[in-house]
Parts: sequence; C-alpha cells; structure tokens
Amino acid sequence: MALLKGALLAVLLATAGDAASCKASAAPLFEYEKVQLTEQTLAKLGRAQSLFGFGNMTNTTQSGTCKVFPGDRQWPSQASWAALNKAVDGALIETVPLAASCYSSWPQYDSELCKEITDKWTDSHIHAADPASVMWPLFEGRSCLPTTNSSSSCSLGGYSVYSVNVSNVAQIQLAVNFARNSNIRLVTKNTGHDFNGKSSGAGALGIWTHNLKNVEYFENYSAADYQGPAVKLGAGVQAAEVYAHAKKLGYTAVGGEGKTVGVAGGYVLGGGHSPMSSLFGLAADQVLALEVVLSNGHFVTVTKTSHPDLFWALRGGGGGTFGIVTSIISRVYPKIGTTVSTFNFSTGKNVSTETFWAGVKAYLSHFPAHADAGTYAYFWVMATGEDSYTFLMNPFFAVNHTLSQYNALVKPWYQELRALGIQIQPNSTYYDNFYDAWNSGFPLETVASSTMMTGSRLFPRSNWEDAELLNKTFNALRSTVTAGFPLLAFNMKAELQKGFASNSANPAFRQTLLHAISSTSWTETTSNADIKTKMDYFTNDILGQWRAVSPDAGAYMSESDIQEPNFQQAFYGSNYQRLYQLKQKYDPGMLFYAPTGVGSEEWTVRSLDGLPDQNGRLCRL
Ligand SMILES: Cc1cc2nc3c(=O)[nH]c(=O)nc-3n(C[C@H](O)[C@H](O)[C@H](O)COP(=O)(O)OP(=O)(O)OC[C@H]3O[C@@H](n4cnc5c(N)ncnc54)[C@H](O)[C@@H]3O)c2cc1C
Ligand SMILES: *[C@@H]1O[C@H](CO)[C@@H](O)[C@H](O)[C@H]1NC(C)=O
Ligand SMILES: *[C@@H]1O[C@H](CO)[C@@H](O)[C@H](O)[C@H]1NC(C)=O
Ligand SMILES: *[C@@H]1O[C@H](CO)[C@@H](O)[C@H](O)[C@H]1NC(C)=O
Ligand SMILES: *[C@@H]1O[C@H](CO)[C@@H](O)[C@H](O)[C@H]1NC(C)=O
Ligand SMILES: *[C@@H]1O[C@H](CO)[C@@H](O)[C@H](O)[C@H]1NC(C)=O
Ligand SMILES: *[C@@H]1O[C@H](CO)[C@@H](O)[C@H](O)[C@H]1NC(C)=O
Ligand SMILES: *[C@@H]1O[C@H](CO)[C@@H](O)[C@H](O)[C@H]1NC(C)=O
Ligand SMILES: *[C@@H]1O[C@H](CO)[C@@H](O)[C@H](O)[C@H]1NC(C)=O
Ligand SMILES: *[C@@H]1O[C@H](CO)[C@@H](O)[C@H](O)[C@H]1NC(C)=O
Ligand SMILES: *[C@@H]1O[C@H](CO)[C@@H](O)[C@H](O)[C@H]1NC(C)=O
Repeated sequence: MALLKGALLAVLLATAGDAASCKASAAPLFEYEKVQLTEQTLAKLGRAQSLFGFGNMTNTTQSGTCKVFPGDRQWPSQASWAALNKAVDGALIETVPLAASCYSSWPQYDSELCKEITDKWTDSHIHAADPASVMWPLFEGRSCLPTTNSSSSCSLGGYSVYSVNVSNVAQIQLAVNFARNSNIRLVTKNTGHDFNGKSSGAGALGIWTHNLKNVEYFENYSAADYQGPAVKLGAGVQAAEVYAHAKKLGYTAVGGEGKTVGVAGGYVLGGGHSPMSSLFGLAADQVLALEVVLSNGHFVTVTKTSHPDLFWALRGGGGGTFGIVTSIISRVYPKIGTTVSTFNFSTGKNVSTETFWAGVKAYLSHFPAHADAGTYAYFWVMATGEDSYTFLMNPFFAVNHTLSQYNALVKPWYQELRALGIQIQPNSTYYDNFYDAWNSGFPLETVASSTMMTGSRLFPRSNWEDAELLNKTFNALRSTVTAGFPLLAFNMKAELQKGFASNSANPAFRQTLLHAISSTSWTETTSNADIKTKMDYFTNDILGQWRAVSPDAGAYMSESDIQEPNFQQAFYGSNYQRLYQLKQKYDPGMLFYAPTGVGSEEWTVRSLDGLPDQNGRLCRL
C-alpha cells in the first residue's frame, strides 16, 4: 500500500458523480457527496481491499459473541489503523477525552486549559465541537469528568477510541467498511446531545459528522408529491445555523427549540418536535429525500420512490440505526410571525398551595385549544421549598399570532388566574420571523450534568376528553412535583399533515397534547448502587404514575428514560414490528447499534459500573 497522502481521494474525485442519485432526489448532491468510494477505486487499493471492501446484508454475528474490543487479538493492528488514516486522508483522530487536561496521568495535562474546560463544561458548544464528547456523561460512563484532583483517574470509558472527522462521503464509506470488516463497534456522533448516550460507545470507531455544514435553499423544489420551497441540509448543520439562513432568505424551517441540536442527525431521525410542530407536524414529516451510507458501505438516495421502505424507517425510526445520513432535503414554509411570552407565578402571600395548583390545573384545561391554535408552550413547574412551588412559562411560543391574537387566545386562562387571585405580568413581544422569536424565547441549553437522568411521556388528547381522566392526569403531574421532581413540559401537538407521506415516527406523537419531561438527581458522592436505586425509583414509581394514566400512549425516544420499560412499545408503538423487519433487512449484523434503538434488545453493553452506560463491551445476547 504505497498510497501517497491525498492520492486516494484524488482517485475518488476523478470518478465522482452519481447520476442516478441526482435524478432520484431531483436535487444535486453537495460537493462532498460527490466524493464517493466505488468498486473501481477500491480495486486500486490492492491488498487493503480486505480492510475497506464493501459488505453484504447478511447476519454474521453469533449469539453470545461480542464486538472486537481494544486488547483483543483481533483488534486492528497499528498498521491497519495507519492504513485507515491514510485512506481517509489524515482525518482519523485518536480520542483524547475533553477533560484530559485536568489529569496529570495524561500528556495533555494543563491546569489552565482544565479550568477553561471546567468553566465551559455545561455549554453545549464545546461538546459539539469535540469528536467524541457527549452531553450526558452519565451514559458514557463518567470516565473523565472535569476535576480539581489531578491525580484521580481519567480513562477513555465509553468514548469512541478513534473518530473520523468526515468531510466527504468516501470517508464515511471507508470507516463503515473498516468497522464492519474488522467486526468492531461503530458509533456516529454529530453534536452529542443524545439523552441516552447513543452517540458514544467503548471500543468504537466514531464517525463525526459535525463538519458537514452545507445549507442550500430551493425556492421551487420538486419531489414525487411536493412542489415548493425546500432546504437541503448537511448532516452537521445545527439549529441556530439553519434558522439564521432561513431569516436571511425569508423562509421558516421546522427544527428543534435547542440552540445547538443537530437538525439533520439524531433529531430529525428520531422524529423531532419543533416550535412549529403544532402547525406543521414533526421535523421528520418534512423530509423529502435523504442521502445515506448503508451498513454494506454503499451510498444511496432515499426518497418516496427510491428505497421507499428506508424512506419510511429513517424518518422517525431513530438515529444511528439504519444508516449514516449525509444530508436531508426538507419542506420549508414562508416567513411567519410569532408572539413570544414569558411569565411566572408562585405560592406566596396571596397564593396558597391549593390556589397555585388550581392555576396550573386551569392551564391544563386549555391545552387542546392552545395546540389547535398552532402554538407551542414550554413550561416548568417546580417545588422551590417546603410547600412552595413555582410555575414558569419559558416561553409561550405563539406561532402565527400577533400580540392581540395571542392575548385573545390566553384571555380565558388569564381570567381564571385573576379570579383565583394569582397575579401575572406577562412579557409578550411579537417578532415578524422565526429566528428572532426563537432566539429571544429559548435560552441556551445547560448540558453535561452527570448527576441526573430524565424520563418523559406523551400524554394523549383522549386524556382531555374525559373529565375524570383529566383529573387523574393532573393529579399524577402534581404528585410528581410534590414529590420533588421537576416538570419540564411542552403543550403542543404533532399531527401528520394532510397529503404528507406516512413515516415511522412514534404514533403517540400524533395523539399528544403534552410532552412532559421530569428528572431525578443525586450528588457527586452518591454511590453507583444508590444511583441505580434512585434511577429505578424514578423509572418505576414516579414515571409509573404517568404511565398508569396513559397506558396506551408512549414516550419520545430522544428525550426519554434509558430504562423505559417495554421501550419498543413506548418509543415506536405499532411501528416496531415493521422497523424490526427492516433492521433485519438493512443491518442484520448490527453495525449501527444504539441503546434503545431498533433491535437493541438482542444486544447488551457490559458496563463496568452496573449502570446503563456505554462503557463496556457490546455483545449479542
Ligand atoms: C438541550 C437539548 C435540547 C433539545 N431540544 C430538542 C427539541 O427541541 N426537539 C427535539 O425533538 N429534540 C430535542 N432534543 C433531543 C435531540 O433531538 C436528541 O438529543 C437528538 O438525538 C440529537 O441529535 P444530534 O444528531 O444532535 O445528536 P447526537 O447525540 O450526536 O446523535 C444522536 C443519535 O443520532 C445518531 N446520528 C447522528 N447523526 C446521524 C446521521 N447523520 N446519520 C445517522 N445517525 C445519526 C447518533 O448515532 C445517535 O444515535 C434536545 C436535546 C438536548 C440535550
Ligand atoms: C457476505 O459476507 C460474508 C462475510 O464477508 C461472506 O462470508 C458471505 O459469503 C457473503 N454472503 C453473500 C451472500 O455474499
Ligand atoms: C442473527 O443471528 C443470531 C445468531 O444466530 C440470531 O440470534 C439473531 O436472531 C439473528 N438476527 C437477525 C436480525 O437475523
Ligand atoms: C485524589 O484522587 C486520588 C486518586 O483517586 C485519591 O487517592 C485522593 O484521595 C484524592 N484527593 C483528594 C483531595 O480528594
Ligand atoms: C475536522 O475537519 C475540518 C475540515 O472538514 C477541519 O476544519 C477541522 O479543523 C477538523 N477538526 C479536527 C478536530 O481535526
Ligand atoms: C414551480 O415549478 C413548476 C414546474 O416545475 C411550475 O409549474 C410552478 O409554476 C413553479 N412555481 C413557482 C412558484 O415558481
Ligand atoms: C395581595 O393581594 C392584595 C389585595 O388584593 C394586594 O393589595 C397585594 O398587592 C397582593 N400581594 C401580592 C404579593 O401579590
Ligand atoms: C395564520 O393565521 C391566519 C389567520 O390569522 C390564517 O389565515 C393562516 O392560514 C395561518 N397560517 C398558517 C400557516 O397556518
Ligand atoms: C417572574 O416574573 C417577574 C415579573 O412578574 C420577574 O420580575 C421575575 O424575574 C420572574 N422570575 C423568573 C424566575 O423568571
Ligand atoms: C421582555 O422580553 C424581552 C425579550 O426577551 C426582553 O428583552 C426584555 O428585557 C423583557 N422585559 C422585561 C421587563 O422583563
Ligand atoms: C375533578 O376534580 C375536581 C376537584 O378535585 C372535582 O371537583 C371534580 O368533581 C372531579 N371531576 C371528575 C369528573 O372526577
């Protein structure tokens, strides 16, 4: 293998272009998608073909066996890693944990840098910009947290061992083929936001999509069943980036509320709720085409007419499961104005505990009207001390409502609050475009806590159609907060719009009026056994009350409890069986493993601390 640096990519460029793909998606590939691995270019690799050759969709894994792990005899040799690095034109990065500078046992030890990382640890940007770091270290394995004790231990833990900093499709194909042919674990990491550690994995080769930043707007895009404005997004584009582009060109995109979430990665693949969802549905519903590298290493265009089964599965069936998406094309909408409102009320001198809860209950009764008006509201209810509570509207995002339309919408609730003696001072502002409304309405997320876990539920509209059931729903939520667990919730809906192609997004989303999240927490000195006890209590007793009042509903996989009982039903509902069959068809060897992903029940990670994290060998049961 006497490949000169850059030589392989030059060969690939010379054979670039996939006319079939262009035609199927009716939109040109990004330049980076034209750089592909082909059989012809592979043939030029000579002996390296065994490392990088394409695969087939057969089930080669045996039960009880594990993915090859560092230290195993079969682990790729230094020469093989060097060959991979050469093939991807030097884009292979050996993982150094983000907080390694805090530890004297690492060559990167640097107390100044450690202080900087410690100060910024809860800022999502530093994790997104790192090839391996993730925003929920608990599910990585807490193997290298920022610390002031430089002699404590920092290990790779659940972080991937190497990552390819991809800037073209060929690099993704080479990494996919290398991982599959070596039988090692593969992980795709975009931003690292995933709540359940899906973007980490011990002993894995990572594919880091963060730098695929292209954005292209089509004024009049044409697909099988759509004609109109659309945007093509590279896999690494983040929410703030597409919204800024949309403001400049005068369109509205359906993306998340979080500032740095990856729009075209795990977010859209898991369904994706948005401040625009009550009006337009889920982010996954908007997708008209995807470019994807499959488990056999081949690069395909997926649309309603090209690989229609994957078109259904990728749009909602979960990130890191069916393939690696390199771009999506989504419907977008004309510019739209929004009123953003924030306010709060609390127990206090004039507001008793019962009055406070009556105010919250009054709000609950307006959920159908507010969601049906196309609005999205993010609110928190929390205990602030002994028998004291606070409600925060954070914010009410009244899409397509002027100030006076917003005030008319909430007037009945405000009147009820006034009648109860609850004073509020709403701060409401109208913005003529999504970006400005979103930017002022939603705070930058605080991430990377290692002392908490979350869980959630998609409460269905039917709970509002029966007064007794609504009482029970309210009582379940109240009892959660009273027990000291916060409620962070969205009043929204996410119906599939008329004429849109159906997809695999959780059917529970179609019914919901309330996506409610709660969490449990502990301290840095809590033992692993006590953490597990707390997690189990939260999963079973606290969230159990939510499930009891919505037994046929589900929960949103991307903002969920990693221990969700019967996750197949909760996260996928009636789609699970078909998704499982497609997983068997497209990835029977489980190259794309994700905790709580489709087919994951047949695998386990042998974690070192007894917690459900990615710090251990991945083995077939
Ligand atoms: C602060 C915060 C705010 C959030 N806000 C919202 C919100 O408003 N609405 C909402 O619906 N969700 C929201 N989420 C949840 C979010 O959708 C998930 O965390 C999602 O997994 C993030 O996707 P990502 O690609 O950015 O993250 P990653 O953690 O990098 O990836 C998540 C999963 O997707 C896979 N993946 C990533 N890229 C690709 C790709 N190109 N091809 C195939 N698989 C891929 C990964 O392997 C992993 O399994 C939020 C999360 C956080 C922490
Ligand atoms: C698929 O690949 C495996 C492993 O490379 C090989 O043993 C098998 O023969 C292939 N099957 C087919 C049908 O090509
Ligand atoms: C793959 O093979 C293993 C071992 O024979 C078996 O347990 C498993 O069910 C198969 N999985 C699929 C998806 O076919
Ligand atoms: C620092 O960590 C080391 C190794 O775990 C431990 O022995 C020592 O007690 C710790 N020091 C402090 C001040 O916590
Ligand atoms: C990753 O690759 C991009 C080019 O696509 C480059 O700008 C960036 O510096 C690289 N990042 C790292 C951490 O190597
Ligand atoms: C979009 O293109 C179609 C044909 O491709 C055309 O019929 C239609 O008028 C165009 N619409 C706009 C708004 O340009
Ligand atoms: C309590 O109610 C009284 C009478 O309505 C009012 O004057 C007072 O300002 C209220 N106090 C608070 C803290 O809202
Ligand atoms: C916005 O509201 C107006 C009524 O004020 C309505 O006519 C229009 O259809 C709405 N737009 C969307 C996109 O729903
Ligand atoms: C609650 O609202 C008051 C105005 O009514 C405001 O001064 C205060 O900052 C708000 N508190 C929070 C926590 O937002
Ligand atoms: C009201 O909200 C706007 C936008 O977020 C903010 O700039 C302003 O400071 C707020 N005003 C008050 C009185 O809180
Ligand atoms: C709901 O609860 C309220 C107050 O707790 C009670 O007055 C009402 O009768 C209940 N409604 C039903 C249908 O159970």
